[in-house]
Amino acid sequence: MNVLGIETSCDETSAAVVSDGRQVLSNVVLSQVKLHSPYGGVVPEIASRSHVENLHLVVDRAINESGLEWNELDRIAVTSGPGLASSLLIGISFAKGLAMRMQLPLYSINHLHAHVYSVFLEEDAPIPGDVTPFIALVVSGGHTSLVRFVALDNYELLGQTIDDAAGEAFDKGAKLLNLGYPGGPVIDRMAKNGDSSMVRFPRGRQRKSEPCGGLDPELCFSFSGLKTALLYHLKKHPEDKENERISSIAASYQEAIIDSIVERCEKAIRTERHLVVAGGVSLNSRLRDRLNHLCSRLGIHLLLPRPVYCTDNAAMIAGYCGANDSLKAADLSDLDANPNMTFHG
Ligand code: KG4
Ligand code: ZN
Repeated sequence: MNVLGIETSCDETSAAVVSDGRQVLSNVVLSQVKLHSPYGGVVPEIASRSHVENLHLVVDRAINESGLEWNELDRIAVTSGPGLASSLLIGISFAKGLAMRMQLPLYSINHLHAHVYSVFLEEDAPIPGDVTPFIALVVSGGHTSLVRFVALDNYELLGQTIDDAAGEAFDKGAKLLNLGYPGGPVIDRMAKNGDSSMVRFPRGRQRKSEPCGGLDPELCFSFSGLKTALLYHLKKHPEDKENERISSIAASYQEAIIDSIVERCEKAIRTERHLVVAGGVSLNSRLRDRLNHLCSRLGIHLLLPRPVYCTDNAAMIAGYCGANDSLKAADLSDLDANPNMTFHG
């Protein structure tokens, strides 16, 4: 089954063709980072305008690179949430038009489910049924969640952030340090030359007694205090952004984020044997090292996406659609963007 995937939930315009949920025939990703970086974050109007201008070109290229003809497609899959409303709408409108014109069924995909699926892309990746049940950690610019999967369409949310997402913490930290946008890659790079023990930033622990929307507080995350701690540190030591100590500030800040993620993964994994980690922050080299270390100590099988599938891409959208038999085609007159979509829809 050949699926054309379309992803425009934030600042990447992407289209991909994936066969049978695993074989990636093409995956075109047009990043808008250069457009947004002067503003220190994603500007929704600029993002949606760029999707409008480029999506048709990106889709055309994905079809050409796949080596398939249009009439060899079986399904179209599009991200319907979560994300920026105006960006999601561009992808959805385009996909609806295409589905009508090509008389193909259209599938509405939850971006978070697709991130988890990214570890199963490519024919040499594990097969989902061979590694269930697994614990999934989704760490991206907008989400930080721990979920237990029994099957691709059967899962339970264990914990999530109560304020900022892990990627957001990287981005806001980098902004305070004048390091540009997106913050994750630059903090990752700078931290390599720094001493992560120079400043002890808070780890954002949730007390057992604190409410967490019915979830186990020990599996929930909080990153907003960390950002505030960095802000106050820099007010007290403004020189730390200018001199060579900035690498150690970046390393200390990163370590606080990673510590809090790794600690919760260890708690969440309990009796399971497989840990899936996905989303843009799963590219982080320190996180990958620490999780490799944790999993080898505990005898856990760690599944990480290939770097190209960590950040937003349409291959994970098309792949998830092709691999999940329980999905139903959308009613074109009903399908709408859901910017606040959660793991549960
Ligand atoms: O998954 P993604 O592309 O978009 C969302 O669905 O949000 O993730 C983007 C996030 C950004 O916050 C970015 O700073 C972060 O992933 N990121 C990283 C790294 N590369 C990207 N965070 C830490 N270390 C990295 N190397
Ligand atoms: Zn994402």
